[in-house]
Amino acid sequence: MEIASLIDLSRVGGIILKSVTLNPREGNPFPRIWETSCGVLNSVGLENPGVDFLVDNILPRLEGCGCAVFASIAGESEEEYARLAEKLNSLEAILSGIEINVSCPNVKKGGIEFGAYLETVASLVKGVKNYTSIPLFTKLSSAVSDIAKVAVAAVESGSVGLSLINTVPALGIDHTRRKSRLGGVYGGLSGPAIKPVALKCVWECFRATGVPIIGSGGVMNARDAVEFMIAGARAVSVGTALLRDARTAYEIVDELPRVLRESGALSASEIVGTLKT
Ligand code: SIN
Repeated sequence: MEIASLIDLSRVGGIILKSVTLNPREGNPFPRIWETSCGVLNSVGLENPGVDFLVDNILPRLEGCGCAVFASIAGESEEEYARLAEKLNSLEAILSGIEINVSCPNVKKGGIEFGAYLETVASLVKGVKNYTSIPLFTKLSSAVSDIAKVAVAAVESGSVGLSLINTVPALGIDHTRRKSRLGGVYGGLSGPAIKPVALKCVWECFRATGVPIIGSGGVMNARDAVEFMIAGARAVSVGTALLRDARTAYEIVDELPRVLRESGALSASEIVGTLKT
């Protein structure tokens, strides 16, 4: 929500909120962020105030903010995901979608563990779908043996779209102390280093499912955004670049028409999934 105080939300297409859990979470021990030579490692551990706080205090403030609002849910069990969906369901006037995060690399229970198994993803998405009519977008990890198969399982179970990809599990080391750079030891890598990984995942999942994909992973400028669209993304989300300067969101929006023209397109919709192979 801090982002709302930094930029005018009506100038972007939408926002995806930080993943929320049933109960408030304090998150992982510090340090939680480490900048690498070409990206950022984080081990936040899903720190958040809990879904009731989101419903009572944050979402109402976003009503009429001028852009699409997506909530994101993360649970430690299938039941928790379903309960989260149930609690958000009454907010369909505010929410354009719910992201089902089954790919956080920084928690001991749930997270990437869930996203690795087709059966778990299928049953979890079906369970969530039973409790909400808000469109579901499942957020997957690249750290699985075949992301396209997981994507198909999510879509066949009721996910209308996908959010690809979460951060890539990674480790940073301080050699002078022989210690991890992060309090949580492992972290998730984001930023330019993971863009080629993300583009491959988006392309594979686009070909396997054809559903709307929100692409993410190293989108730093409008050219990156167009590359994601060519791979099959209908929209892109920006994370790491905003840590440096929240106004990057404006730059991407403003530059998009020019970069689309460089690719021979007049609109974003005509370029989606047009990778020549
Ligand atoms: C975190 O809170 O640790 C990052 C969120 C995520 O990777 O899903």
